[in-house]
Amino acid sequence: MMLVNPNATYQEIRTQKIAAWELDKSPAYWDYRRRWTEYPQRQIVGEFPIHLDIETTNACNLKCPMCPRTVLVQKNRFHKIQFMDFRFYQSLIDQGAESGLCSVKLNYLGEPLLHPDVVQQVKYAKDKGLLDVMLNTNGTLLTEEISRQLLDAGLDKIFFSFDSHRPEEYEAIRLGADFNQVVENIKTFVRIKNSNGHRHTETRISMVLHRQEEEKFRALIAMWEGIVDTIGFGYYVERDPAKIKAEDPVEGFICAQPWQRMFVMVDGAVIPCCVDEQREYILGNARKDFLVDIWKGERLAALREAHARRHYERIPLCRKCYVPIAEQQEGKRFISLQGQTSSRPRSKPPRSGRPKGDPPQAKGKH
Ligand SMILES: C[S@@+](CC[C@H](N)C(=O)[O-])C[C@H]1O[C@@H](n2cnc3c(N)ncnc32)[C@H](O)[C@@H]1O
Ligand code: SF4
Repeated sequence: MMLVNPNATYQEIRTQKIAAWELDKSPAYWDYRRRWTEYPQRQIVGEFPIHLDIETTNACNLKCPMCPRTVLVQKNRFHKIQFMDFRFYQSLIDQGAESGLCSVKLNYLGEPLLHPDVVQQVKYAKDKGLLDVMLNTNGTLLTEEISRQLLDAGLDKIFFSFDSHRPEEYEAIRLGADFNQVVENIKTFVRIKNSNGHRHTETRISMVLHRQEEEKFRALIAMWEGIVDTIGFGYYVERDPAKIKAEDPVEGFICAQPWQRMFVMVDGAVIPCCVDEQREYILGNARKDFLVDIWKGERLAALREAHARRHYERIPLCRKCYVPIAEQQEGKRFISLQGQTSSRPRSKPPRSGRPKGDPPQAKGKH
């Protein structure tokens, strides 16, 4: 029988540098990571999501051709461009902080550094006690000043989307970005992080990897190992609605996400996971409903029920999802890829609060 994989959407190689980062983590952090794995595996519905993805803006300065946002913009099916107002953002964090929310990621279909409040957003979440505040960025707007401010605000993780070690190829994928500028921006961020003793901030290079192109990931590792803490990839997922087709159901598959997280879009629409950019399975609206009611509501309960009974395919959104297929097909491929790199997951747990017997994860977190 298939096990529930708590980190199915992403895979990463951990370099030795991550050891220093792990040493800083508190017992509360490791307890949150334990629940991240355990809740989906034991189908425990917590009082509140463990994690929220908050789309602080759906604006973007690039036009990456593989991105679901670009696809929807090209088809004139993208929603109005907006920037989340700070009061609404605060209300999301406040609701979470009162109810055990552990982590937030400040982006979905947009570039979070375009939001003028991004530093205050990070600081507010950290001041409210969230354990893990993170974002994905294309890195184009990461000036020295913003880098300092984000680090000072307490950002826990920053994931730089960086899709090729070859400048021309990179600029064809990250349409509108300048290879040299982004490399410089990332290195500046890392330099400030190291010189100012911000050991708590994890840096990760992250690429979208096409199947059969694993050598590109190895080249990326060679480029960034020794600079950032982790290097990872998500397999390319077809996001053009015209090309997405329902695959045969994968027997026994259960998705972890309905027990871990929810996504709040910039206008307040709440969806269950990252594959629902077309809002097919709206759970509620956070501008009208309390998040806890959405989390405990009928829509998400029905989705969980279908998965718990190992019939995810009964939910049309899930029937088209790539995760079950990727789980079935890619697991072995990743293991062989990992074996050929020079990096290895660490073998010893850190001296911090990590509980004994909880091995370092070779796979990613969000
Ligand atoms: C949609 S972007 C938003 C955040 C930010 N603008 C960025 O580029 O990192 C979030 C992540 O999704 C990844 N992504 C975009 N299109 C994808 C696709 N078709 N398959 C898998 N991942 C994709 C991006 O590379 C990025 O790491
Ligand atoms: S920078 Fe991010 S959000 Fe913008 S088009 Fe590229 S992947 Fe999509």
